[in-house]
Amino acid sequence: MGTDSFISVRDVTKKYRARKALDRVSIEVGKGEVFGLIGPNGAGKSTFITLLATINRPDSGDILVDGKSIVKNPGIIRSRIGYVPQEIALYPMLSAYDNLDLWAGVYGLKGQQKKRRIQAVLDYMRLGDRARDKVATYSGGMKRRLNIAASLLHKPEILIMDEPTAGVDILSRATIADMIKSLKKNGCTIVLASHYIDELESLCDRVAILNKGVLLYTGALEEILRNTGKESLKALMLNLEEM
Ligand SMILES: Nc1ncnc2c1ncn2[C@@H]1O[C@H](COP(=O)(O)OP(=O)(O)OP(=O)(O)O)[C@@H](O)[C@H]1O
Ligand SMILES: [Mg+2]
Repeated sequence: MGTDSFISVRDVTKKYRARKALDRVSIEVGKGEVFGLIGPNGAGKSTFITLLATINRPDSGDILVDGKSIVKNPGIIRSRIGYVPQEIALYPMLSAYDNLDLWAGVYGLKGQQKKRRIQAVLDYMRLGDRARDKVATYSGGMKRRLNIAASLLHKPEILIMDEPTAGVDILSRATIADMIKSLKKNGCTIVLASHYIDELESLCDRVAILNKGVLLYTGALEEILRNTGKESLKALMLNLEEM
């Protein structure tokens, strides 16, 4: 990594009262990489994601994107990132189209361009045929896909996703995996937290393993396994749970 680092998280600590949700974590992500965050419940994945998405601020340390501090200047990055929160954030009584219309307005899209972008992200996430139905009638997987669609409206350079495939069926997971591969092909940098080991193995260039707010390992998966002497990520994760 080193010089071609695009996202540089430096010695970041985040506390909630006395509890350290992240303890001096440093992570580098290269441009165009798919970077995965893994760790047991409470490891600090969502905390890390919200700091990167500028929803939250670290207590100490800095986060640079493209050489600029997003802790000091969160405004400079907001139009360049898409954020998919762990909890689904949609208006159930509105249609998918109208939910996206609201978000598109927030991103400053207007007129024909707005309509085109809404249609494009609906098609991308395979929601086109149900676009006018109320979100309340959607399956869990469809809601997740719609949440992701909303994060793509403004063509972000960086996509930050917190457990995008939690609780979704195999078809939605495949759609989301295809979307990640296609965005990567177009040069998008992607950071995602997940509990699905097979998904991380197949999608991520590099991963970070967090436990109780501490960064234990970071690197390509093969490298981490070689260094730890574990035969699989699953074996390594099971070992963590016992720590
Ligand atoms: N708003 C908050 N107030 C107080 N404590 C919090 C808050 N958010 C997170 N925490 C605590 O910080 C720690 C890290 O939580 P975080 O949500 O980042 O973990 P996570 O790795 O995303 O877990 P999960 O896999 O369950 O989503 C936990 O101990 C959690 O209880
Ligand atoms: Mg979480």
